[in-house]
Amino acid sequence: MITLGIETSCDETSCAILEDSDRILSNITSSSLEKHQPYGGVVPEIASRHALENIYIVFEEALKQANKSFQDIGLVSVTYGPGLIGSLLVGVSFAKALAFSRNLKLIGVNHLEAHLEANFLQNPRPNEPFLGLIVSGGHTITVNHDNCKYEKIGETIDDAVGEAYDKVAKLMGLGYPGGPILDRLAQNGDSKRFRFTKPKLANELDFSFSGIKTAVLHLVEDLKGNLEKEIPNIAASFQHSVINWLVEGVRKASQKTGARYVVIGGGVSANSLLRSKLLELGNELNVTILIPPFSLTLDNGAMIAKSGYDRFVGGYGDTAHLDLSAVPNLRIGA
Ligand code: KG4
Ligand code: ZN
Repeated sequence: MITLGIETSCDETSCAILEDSDRILSNITSSSLEKHQPYGGVVPEIASRHALENIYIVFEEALKQANKSFQDIGLVSVTYGPGLIGSLLVGVSFAKALAFSRNLKLIGVNHLEAHLEANFLQNPRPNEPFLGLIVSGGHTITVNHDNCKYEKIGETIDDAVGEAYDKVAKLMGLGYPGGPILDRLAQNGDSKRFRFTKPKLANELDFSFSGIKTAVLHLVEDLKGNLEKEIPNIAASFQHSVINWLVEGVRKASQKTGARYVVIGGGVSANSLLRSKLLELGNELNVTILIPPFSLTLDNGAMIAKSGYDRFVGGYGDTAHLDLSAVPNLRIGA
């Protein structure tokens, strides 16, 4: 079966053609990233306008690269949340129009779940419950996946980890998105130069990243004229702290659930330190860590196609109807 995956939840407009369970024939993404850079963050109106102007171009390019025609598509899978309402509506409306025109099966996919499911394009889905870690610009969540159901274990009580990266980079005038910039700078910095206190939380399975952002702000103010030469050290110290907190959260969650598999997803899963620290944790706890290839860490249509296909074939995702709508605050496991 040929599945079309459509992703427009934030600043990326992406379409992918998936053959059967895991053959990605094409995965085309048009990003509006550059248009947001002058503002230091995503401007929703610009993101949705970009999606509207590019969705059909991206769709045609995905078909062309896959060497398929519209007639070959058997299932349309689309992100319906969470995300920016304007951007989501572009993808959902486009998917509904395609499905209506050829009476195709339509399935709505949860973007957060799809970030985890991206892993199963390369590795088989574990035949047992697994722990998921979703780390992106908008979310930091640990979940338990059991028998096709996701259940939340821990989450950030304030900023998402990607958001903290973006804000810290912005306050040092380094540009957007901050994650890859700080990750690169951290390679040449001393991670022990600055110490950041781990926030105390009522629930030890939760996370918090807004305090460290404020701590960096005060540090930057104190450093004044000496900031420039300390930037790599701040990047390394910040990265060392937030990644250790994340990894500790995964350790506690996996000890609580007893999971033998940990599956990671979302933009921050591209982070070099997070990847290496989690692999170390996996060795220590004798747990298998699944991390998506770099090409599937950022928002993309292939993970949406995969998630939709598996739900459809497995019979655990209701086929959507033409009244499918965007749900900006869609929760995991909903
Ligand atoms: O999943 P994603 O593409 O979009 C959302 O759904 O939010 O994630 C984007 C986030 C941004 O906050 C970006 O700074 C972060 O992922 N990111 C990284 C890295 N690459 C991207 N954060 C840390 N280290 C990286 N290498
Ligand atoms: Zn995402």
